[in-house]
Amino acid sequence: MNDVLDFINVNRDRYVDELKEYLAIPSVSALPQHAGDVRRAAEWTAEALRRAGMHDVRIMDTPGHPVVYGEWLGAPGKPTILYYGHYDVQPVDPVDLWTTPPFEATVRDGEIYARGAADDKGQVFMHIKAIEAFTKKTGGLPVNMKVLIEGEEEVGSDHLGDFIKNHKQELVADVVVISDSPMFDRGIPSICYGLRGLAYFQLDIRGTKSDLHSGSFGGAVANPAFVLTQVLAQMKDRSGRVKIPGFYDAVRSLSDVERAEWKKLPFNETRYRKDLGAPRLFGEKGYSTLERVWARPTFEVNGLLSGFTGEGAKTVLPAVSMAKVSMRLVPDQDPDTIADLFERYVRKLCPATVQLTITRMHGGKPWMTEFDNKYVRAAGRAIEAGFGQRPVFNREGGSIPVVSTFQEELGVPSVLFGIGLPDENAHAPDEKLDLGNFHNGIIASAHLYQEIANLS
Ligand code: BES
Ligand code: MN
Ligand code: MN
Repeated sequence: MNDVLDFINVNRDRYVDELKEYLAIPSVSALPQHAGDVRRAAEWTAEALRRAGMHDVRIMDTPGHPVVYGEWLGAPGKPTILYYGHYDVQPVDPVDLWTTPPFEATVRDGEIYARGAADDKGQVFMHIKAIEAFTKKTGGLPVNMKVLIEGEEEVGSDHLGDFIKNHKQELVADVVVISDSPMFDRGIPSICYGLRGLAYFQLDIRGTKSDLHSGSFGGAVANPAFVLTQVLAQMKDRSGRVKIPGFYDAVRSLSDVERAEWKKLPFNETRYRKDLGAPRLFGEKGYSTLERVWARPTFEVNGLLSGFTGEGAKTVLPAVSMAKVSMRLVPDQDPDTIADLFERYVRKLCPATVQLTITRMHGGKPWMTEFDNKYVRAAGRAIEAGFGQRPVFNREGGSIPVVSTFQEELGVPSVLFGIGLPDENAHAPDEKLDLGNFHNGIIASAHLYQEIANLS
């Protein structure tokens, strides 16, 4: 182990140079014009895994973006880790708000800035380098390892469920390891034991066949912008409670134990509010901020479009309006059931004066695990070894759709071992990764493999 750790310490700068190369590939899965770049990132990932000593590395096609798979199975009798991550990234808009270009990774004050730095290329690369350190210094890994890096996480992992079902035998493992989440706070590493689910929709409303003069026709037909906002206004009440009938029926209530544990976490609400630049925080009445984000579902408008939004004034009745909306879900809400409830409610609210189209976009199930298992304890020791500090246990508000699939299809528990930070700017301009955490994360990952090996 000491040789492995020395190797990691000596190679620190090389890791950053290589990571910059990875981050230069604009693997934006949502945009068709980047399909070639997404494939290039898959190839880069595959090559990095080969160089790290993984065997049988393959790019496996799906109806969407490819999956990168590799394995090292030279530790008979030892547990098998299935490591999951994603090499695709979010779009970069608004690109003007980036301090330096999103695909020219730049180091400032010990942080590397680029799209994908934290979510998730940097965290994927951390594991690739931990693997490399072992194979270079010891000729292999202490555990068996299967690596699955996908290219469609940021667009809902639509084809990964089938991929997993079709490759069940190959993917058999004892534990799934994922590094695709922030730690609780700077200097406070954490292990995440719950994620929210997601149900995402586009609503399109058409009033008339074309835009109209608002003087000639205003008052004679319904205005789609107005209808849309009236519908949306019925989604939440003033106390932040979602009004979709049946929405809360399956919500598992927060246990007193969790409530008490979360109260002990060093969460500074004033700092949180100020960092966000919000005049006041807002959320469902009766719950703390952490409870609202980690354990309660929510309805949010992600985007709104209608009518004239240019400079000056234009007297027009828009023909159409559009909204992107989504709900974050918690155990035991089911995205399909919620989608049905939402659709029924919207159809009931929307008047017959307009035409409504509801498009179901991606979804994902919420996930939560018992966190007192041997793998989680092993991860706790590894984090302590890498970060010099014991992790706290947290849930997160974000979603990783495949985690519940691993549980349901493979029956394998997941350990979420994320080393990002709450202010990493994921999905936003100036996404960044703290290089100290990246480095400690490589060390912690190496310890994790060893700790899991020691379990047998
Ligand atoms: N890495 C995030 C998930 C995440 C975010 C976990 C914050 C914990 C805290 C992941 O890449 C992501 O952004 N997921 C999407 C899923 C969606 C596109 C189906 C999300 O949460 O919006
Ligand atoms: Mn991610
Ligand atoms: Mn993401």
